[in-house]
Amino acid sequence: MIPMLKLNDGHKIPQLGLGVWQASDAELMGAIKAATQAGYRQIDTARRYDNEAGVGAAVKASGVAREEMFITTKVWNNDQGYDATMRAFEASLKRLDMDYVDLFLIHWPVPAQGLAVETWKALIDLQKAGRTRSIGVCNFLAPHLDALIEATGVTPAINQIEIHPDFQQRDLVAANTARGILSQAWSPLGQGQTLTVPQITQIASRLDRTPAQVILRWHIERGHVVIPKSVNAGRIAQNAAVFDFALSEEDHALIEAMDSASGRIGPDPQTFDMM
Ligand code: A2P
Repeated sequence: MIPMLKLNDGHKIPQLGLGVWQASDAELMGAIKAATQAGYRQIDTARRYDNEAGVGAAVKASGVAREEMFITTKVWNNDQGYDATMRAFEASLKRLDMDYVDLFLIHWPVPAQGLAVETWKALIDLQKAGRTRSIGVCNFLAPHLDALIEATGVTPAINQIEIHPDFQQRDLVAANTARGILSQAWSPLGQGQTLTVPQITQIASRLDRTPAQVILRWHIERGHVVIPKSVNAGRIAQNAAVFDFALSEEDHALIEAMDSASGRIGPDPQTFDMM
């Protein structure tokens, strides 16, 4: 039901997955059960979310075989650098109680720290050792991507960035595409803020869909991998029911016009250095 997209290393990723930022271990037990029942196979966590153990336990309890799932986690800023990243990766696997992940990502570039290339070398070695199937980054701007590629010759498979109708990042998505990198959208619903915008609600009533479904369908048709976050079983199922309708060119034009340079919700990747 959920299409698989090909990564530049030959592996595949489900185009839609479950985001779990701010979800507690207890909430995840129900959310991941609802998600797997609705057909989700991709779960996106991070060291920073402090819920890797909850994700691991809930995936086991879901009854879906590990090899059918696509599990992502990320190295946090204070664990950047070759050795620290190696240690952080093992600690993440231990909390997940898994012997590999499908995707391991650098969470932020932290340019002021200057450790992204060393961190990337650790990810390359983890992939070679089969501990993670694929490797990538989050929140990297084009010069940050090029620094990794020039230093190592290895291109990230994914760049997970903030994308929603209010902040579409078309230039960065094009920069990803030009390098063979898939764009994965975090906060694809703008953390819920874009759901009541008239352009979206009008399209939703015409198509007899919810605003969230219209926005997620827009991402799918733009070629993004999406990871909407919800801990509510009904909304989790609703968010995956976006593969049986299509937006028109007019709908795309309306949503494209919502793009705003000031629409960013999260931090600026050039300056964000939280440890
Ligand atoms: P909840 O977990 O209560 O469903 P984003 O993924 O852009 O960060 O957005 C996540 C926010 O949007 C969460 O607050 C989530 O709340 C809410 N949300 C997720 N799916 C839907 C939906 N289908 N309709 C309304 N709100 C939603």
